[in-house]
Amino acid sequence: MLNIILFGPPGAGKGTQSAKIIEKYGLTHLSTGDVFRYNIKNETDLGILAKAYIDKGELVPDEVTNNMVADFISRSANDKGFIFDGYPRTIAQGQNLDAVLQKMKATVTTMIALEVDENELVKRLLERGKTSGRVDDQNEDTIRNRFKVYQQETSPLAHFYSDQNKYMGVHGMGTIDDIFERICLAIEAKLPA
Ligand code: C5P
Ligand code: MG
Repeated sequence: MLNIILFGPPGAGKGTQSAKIIEKYGLTHLSTGDVFRYNIKNETDLGILAKAYIDKGELVPDEVTNNMVADFISRSANDKGFIFDGYPRTIAQGQNLDAVLQKMKATVTTMIALEVDENELVKRLLERGKTSGRVDDQNEDTIRNRFKVYQQETSPLAHFYSDQNKYMGVHGMGTIDDIFERICLAIEAKLPA
C-alpha cells in the first residue's frame, strides 16, 4: 500500500493537491474535514457534535475523530492505499493511525508537508470563504485560531514523522501544477525502485 499523509496548515492546498494525487496514483481520499462537513450537512449526531468545534476553529476530540477514521478505513475496498488529508492533527491521532494501519499489515509511507507563508494562507482562506459556505473560512479571528491550534497541536507531528525518516517538506507556493510536480517527485523518491 501507498499511504500518504498530506500535511500542512489550513489553506496550504491539501484538498486541491489530493484530488490530483488520487487521480495519478489511484489512492482513496480521506479528508476528515470533508467527512465532518458531510455529517453536518446531513445533521447526524456526529455532525451536530463536530459543528460546535469546527465553527470555532477548534479540534474535534481525538476519540471521535479516531473512531471515524477507523470506520472509514475498515469500509474501504481499495487496497492501493490512502491519502490522508487533514488527519492526523495530533500526536494521539498519529498513534491511532499507526495502530489502524498495523492491523492491515500496512504503515504510513510518507508525510508530504506543504510549506506556505501565513499571509498567503489567510488570503487563500478568506478567498475560499466567499464561495465555500464554510463558516470557519469567513472570519479572520477563527482563521487565526486555526493557525494557533495548528502550531500547538498539529505541528509536533512533523517531528513524529521525521524521527521515522518519513517527512518530506514541499514548497507550497506557486501554481497548482508546479506544486503537484514537486509532490510527485517527493512521492516517487519513496516508491520502491
Ligand atoms: O481539514 P479541514 O481544514 O477541512 O478541517 C476543518 C475543520 O475540521 C478543522 O478546523 C477542525 O475543526 C476539524 N477537524 C478536526 N480534526 C481533524 C480534521 C478536521 O477537528 N483531524
Ligand atoms: Mg481541506
